[in-house]
Amino acid sequence: MNSLVTKLDHMWISFTFRQPRLPATAAPKVQLSTLPPDPVIPSKKPFKVELVGGKRYSWCTCGQSRKQPFCDGAHKLKAPGLFPLRFVPEKDTSAWLCGCKYTNNPPYCDGTHKQDFIVSATPHEQSDS
Ligand code: FES
Repeated sequence: MNSLVTKLDHMWISFTFRQPRLPATAAPKVQLSTLPPDPVIPSKKPFKVELVGGKRYSWCTCGQSRKQPFCDGAHKLKAPGLFPLRFVPEKDTSAWLCGCKYTNNPPYCDGTHKQDFIVSATPHEQSDS
């Protein structure tokens, strides 16, 4: 009969019974989801910017930055899980960078801001916190 229990079975049985049983009050009080938050909408229109070729830019993806359309680091506190999109234009150019944060061609505006879910949304207002 012992031959039916393999070494792996012993490991599994051992692991199963050694798990501590935490009382409900000791359960972790953190959100275990790994999904990043949705971005907020700082603007329903794109930002026209002059970009310098070879310079590195960080486009805000969370919508919380006060330096739209660029990142100011606000995502670290207000939108953990979202990160700026870094890009380097090849040459000096003018560009329309997305302000609604829902473009399908980041960091550039692709007209998504004209869709109903953006048009009917309330733009995010920056707070001091
Ligand atoms: S501003 Fe976001 S797609 Fe145009």
